[in-house]
Amino acid sequence: MSSIVELRGKTALITGGARRIGAATALALAEAGVHLAIHYRASEADAARLSDQVRAHGVRCALVRADLAQSGEVAALIGKAVDAAGPLDILICNASIFPEATLREAAEENVWENVRINALAPMRLGLDFVAQGREGCIVNFLDTMVVDYDRKHVPYHLSKRMLYSITRMMALECAPKVRVNAVAPGLILPPEGKDEDYLAGLAHSNPLQRYGDARAVAEAVLFLLRAAFVTGQVIFVDGGRHLRGRVYD
Ligand SMILES: NC(=O)c1ccc[n+]([C@@H]2O[C@H](COP(=O)([O-])OP(=O)(O)OC[C@H]3O[C@@H](n4cnc5c(N)ncnc54)[C@H](OP(=O)(O)O)[C@@H]3O)[C@@H](O)[C@H]2O)c1
Repeated sequence: MSSIVELRGKTALITGGARRIGAATALALAEAGVHLAIHYRASEADAARLSDQVRAHGVRCALVRADLAQSGEVAALIGKAVDAAGPLDILICNASIFPEATLREAAEENVWENVRINALAPMRLGLDFVAQGREGCIVNFLDTMVVDYDRKHVPYHLSKRMLYSITRMMALECAPKVRVNAVAPGLILPPEGKDEDYLAGLAHSNPLQRYGDARAVAEAVLFLLRAAFVTGQVIFVDGGRHLRGRVYD
């Protein structure tokens, strides 16, 4: 078996792919010759614009809508994507919510909502993807703070730590046919409502003392998709921020 997977001609579903890091990843995949099913929830116009850019690279592009907070819509999504784009070789779980709440502020429903969208939806999608019975690769999106304590986003933090565990469990359970890896971005794009000053103000918090960009994350995703002997791995795209984490595994 070759150590490098050829991506050209494969088909990928990417969740939350219409904007920001998801869109940059979708474009990087299209440049590599991967046909796409781009999932979105609210960003229909962005998804439509992106699909034109994707098709300009000579690959097919389908759009699929689902609210990942609704378990019925999660359960139908892989089937919808296969109907629209054909059998899937790649699943990228990028969609996420990132609300602010400390431990004391975190309401139970808020914790469940984060767990549902950020962890249980990728788990369900991953299992349905594997149930196709094909060889393939999954990349989940974590956060560098999984090895630290994100005290301002506790429900989100819990959900990403759960997805970290799910990634490792699935890497074991789904081998040898399906590889399951993750990327853990650090300072990449400002959250909604904040601008680049937010990133600049936090740049000192990582050893490289700067912030990254969406393409850097997309490149890590491409590496994991191509690396035939790599599973259960997390690539931190974070300027070394994880080295400063208080690991409590
Ligand atoms: N930005 C960073 O610097 C950073 C840092 C660390 C980790 N990350 C991780 O990297 C990934 C991408 O980050 P990002 O900042 O580009 O993400 P984002 O813009 O916050 O969210 C990506 C997409 O998630 C989708 N989404 C949210 N709730 C949904 C729901 N209920 N159902 C379906 N889709 C839903 C949205 O799609 P629609 O717009 O179509 O509704 C949204 O465009 C995320 O997993 C994030 O946790 C990012």
